[in-house]
This record gives sequence, C-alpha cells and structure tokens, in this order.
Amino acid sequence: MDVSSLHNFLAPEVIFGIDARLQVGRYLKNWTTRKVLLVTDASVELAGWVKEITQQIEQLGLEVAIFRDISPNPRDYEIMIGADFYKDQECDGIVAVGGGSVLDAAKGIAIVVSCGGNILDYEGVDRVLGSLPPLICIPTTGGTSADVSRFCIVNDTRSRCKIAIISKAMVPNVALVDPKPLTTMSDYLTGCTGVDAIVHAMEAFVSNQADLLTDSLALKAMSLLSKNLLQSIKDPDNLDYREQVMLGSFYAGLAFSSASLGCNHSLAHSIGGYLDLPHGECNALLLPQVVDFNYSSAEDRYLRLGEGLGMDWRGVPISRRRKRLVLFLKEMTDRLGIHGSLKNRGLHTRDVAILAQKAIKDPCNATNPKKPNVSDLELVLEESL
Ligand SMILES: [Fe+2]
Repeated sequence: MDVSSLHNFLAPEVIFGIDARLQVGRYLKNWTTRKVLLVTDASVELAGWVKEITQQIEQLGLEVAIFRDISPNPRDYEIMIGADFYKDQECDGIVAVGGGSVLDAAKGIAIVVSCGGNILDYEGVDRVLGSLPPLICIPTTGGTSADVSRFCIVNDTRSRCKIAIISKAMVPNVALVDPKPLTTMSDYLTGCTGVDAIVHAMEAFVSNQADLLTDSLALKAMSLLSKNLLQSIKDPDNLDYREQVMLGSFYAGLAFSSASLGCNHSLAHSIGGYLDLPHGECNALLLPQVVDFNYSSAEDRYLRLGEGLGMDWRGVPISRRRKRLVLFLKEMTDRLGIHGSLKNRGLHTRDVAILAQKAIKDPCNATNPKKPNVSDLELVLEESL
C-alpha cells in the first residue's frame, strides 16, 4: 500500500452560521461540565459578546469564572496566570470568546492545566501529550482560525519572539463559527485579520504538504475573501458579507491546519513578538516580498492564487506575471487599509539579522515551497522595510 497517497485531515466539530455562538450551552451540558473558565479580553467584553455567553451558561445552572487578562500577542506569563486561575477556581472546561490572541491563550491554558510545566516547554511539533480539558472556541474576528487549527502561538516575553506550538491536541473540541461578532470589529482589524486569512490560504496552497483536500479549501477561501473582504469594510453591518468572510477564513483555517504555513508566518511571528505588532498587519506587510521570494518554486500555484484574487493573466507575458502579482498584493493590502511598511512600525535595518535568526527556528519554514536560509529571510525583511 502506498501511504504517500493518503491524506490526513484535522478538524473540530463545527457549527457554522448566524447565532452559532448561542449553541454553547448544549455542549457544556452534554459534557456534564460544572464550572467553566471563560477566556476573553477587555475589548471583546466591551463589545458585548461575553455577557450573553455567560448568561447562556449560567442559565444551565453552571458556574462561570471569567479570565480576561489577555493582551494582543498573548504573553507566556498571562497563560501561566490563567492556568493558576483555572486550578484555583476548580474549573473543568474552557470556553474562549475572542480573536486569535484569546483563543491561543485558552489553548495554552488547556495545555498547562493538563500537562504541567511552563507553556514554553511545548514549543514545536507534537510535544503536547495527554488529555486536555474540553475547549469550545467562539471566534470574534474573521481571520485567525485558531478555532479550527492545530496551532497555538505564544509570545515568549524573555526572547521577544512568538513561538509556535503545533499539535493535534490543539484542535478545539468545538468551534462555534458565527459571523455576527465580526460586526463589532474596527475597519482596520477587519483588514488585518482578513489579510491573515488570505495568507493562510496562500501559504497552505503553496505548502509542500498541500494535497487535494487542502487545495480545494484554499482556493475556495481565496475566492470568498477576495470578493467580500473589502465589501465588509465598506458595509460593516452587512451580515451577508461578514458571513462570506467568516466562511473564507474558516476554509483557509482548515487548509493551513493540515497543510501548514510558510515563511510569511515564520517572519510574522518573529516581528510580532519583537515589536508587539498585530499578527495580520505583519503578514500583510511581508506578503508581497515573500511571494516574490517564493514565486519561482511554485509559479503555477501562485498564478492560480492570483486568479483566485480576481487577476486575469490573459495577455500578460509570462516574464511579467511575477511582478504583476507582487504589485497586485501591495495594492490589495493598501485598499484594505494597511498602508506603509514595517519601517513605519519601528523596524530598523539593525533589527534584521536578529529577526531572521529568530524566524529561521520557526516550524512554519518546514513547509515553505522554497527552503529558506537565514540570508534569504534577511533579504525578505530588508525588502519589507
Ligand atoms: Fe496567521
């Protein structure tokens, strides 16, 4: 039997659609949970998404302990504090309501309360063993896909670098994927998280682990995101656009959870931890340069991705397609409200060497279509200044 022709695919149980978030009680009841740790942050709580979830849970006769001290780019020590809180409160399940930082923090807390030690001990691939508490994720942004993926990203505050924990155990038990919470995102957050989803789809499609399952999802994600992302910024309360963006993000998340990512993400993790910048913003400002670097290793695939974004290659000479795609991506991020460069965000030439050294250790490089070395990553960073 040729096992190389088989495909492994990871996904949680998912309820997708408007008001899916309100199904939270059904699962907790089925699991006979007594006390829930609800992980969130101040901005999500202010937007009103926590109160109704808490009420839903309490109406079932269950207790809720809220842990809201999570920063963007969740810090290692915040996860350790959250794990202590979970144990002190004697919780037996976790519900995460928020963007990628909140969902990743909840995953990190689940690791520490089950497996012990420090969250940073679990960096890398398949290092999380043991049985984790039940985890329900309710995303409030359209891009992160931590609600469906086997990735957990944590900011190592001592080295100022984000580490990746990649494990099947990181796939939540349930994802309640509801477009409604996207309506309270700012335009800029919509743009940044949407580009993150586009990068997920692109990196999954050119990954050296891509297969027929992840290809279909990645291409569908590109199409949905390219048609609806800008519209959802222009018409933020339109639930049709928000639903299509959420669906695109969801497909992209399923694609990258199995096919993994590439050096766009390894560099974004390095910069995001160093400068404490939003993840989607880092990805957006790196994307044209990463595509320029990778293009020759996956030319046909990049052309198909370009078509997914609405590009028409007819009449464009082969020799000019690479530049055309790179320019299109720059213009796309600009249209979505992400202007300027990493230099405008505080990145200096003197930082390039150290950031490349950090990025080269990231497991996302392993599936990049072109194996990068430190000099390659330095070059991409310099071109992104
Ligand atoms: Fe991402």
